[in-house]
Amino acid sequence: MNFGTSSLDFSIQAYQEGINPPVTKPNPAFLRDIGEQGMRDLLHRFYMGLFESPIKEIFPETREEMKIAGQHSADFFIQICAGPAYFNQNRGAPQMRQRHAPFHITPHARLHWLVTFEEALQPIIKDKLSSDENIQSFWNYLNIFSQWMINSRD
Ligand code: HEM
Repeated sequence: MNFGTSSLDFSIQAYQEGINPPVTKPNPAFLRDIGEQGMRDLLHRFYMGLFESPIKEIFPETREEMKIAGQHSADFFIQICAGPAYFNQNRGAPQMRQRHAPFHITPHARLHWLVTFEEALQPIIKDKLSSDENIQSFWNYLNIFSQWMINSRD
């Protein structure tokens, strides 16, 4: 598929302490465009990026553990894009804020997390695997929902 030239906006919404802005799930068409394997590849790239990132200390220590973490995360993102409920099956109810509670997630860590995700999305953009509209919808979800995970100050 060829979706033409890019008009994507990867700007990051400023975090305001104590505010969890309303979240819209990504357009399921993003998953239809890239497929389940495409989502697994995306989360693999993302977790390998996190492994090299300035916030690597809050993530598992080994590459093997990071691969597994990437799979769990892919299960979640497939599910949130209206695919099969792999995360519920393998890990139980998402309860994302609760699952993130053991880690110190600061506003600064969120910025690194988002920038690393933006990098992981690049091959999808370059290879035109999805439309700008659907990639934008996925980014918007990350941009907003990542604010919900912040539980510590910089
Ligand atoms: C859109 C926002 C986010 C979503 C949807 C998300 C999703 C997830 C998922 C599905 C897991 C695996 C939980 C499990 O298997 O039990 C996870 C774990 C984790 N997340 Fe997030 N996350 C988000 C934001 C963040 C941010 C902003 C950070 C830090 C900057 C972060 C750090 C972590 C850490 C440290 C773990 C534990 C290690 C791991 O299993 O990956 N997350 N996240």
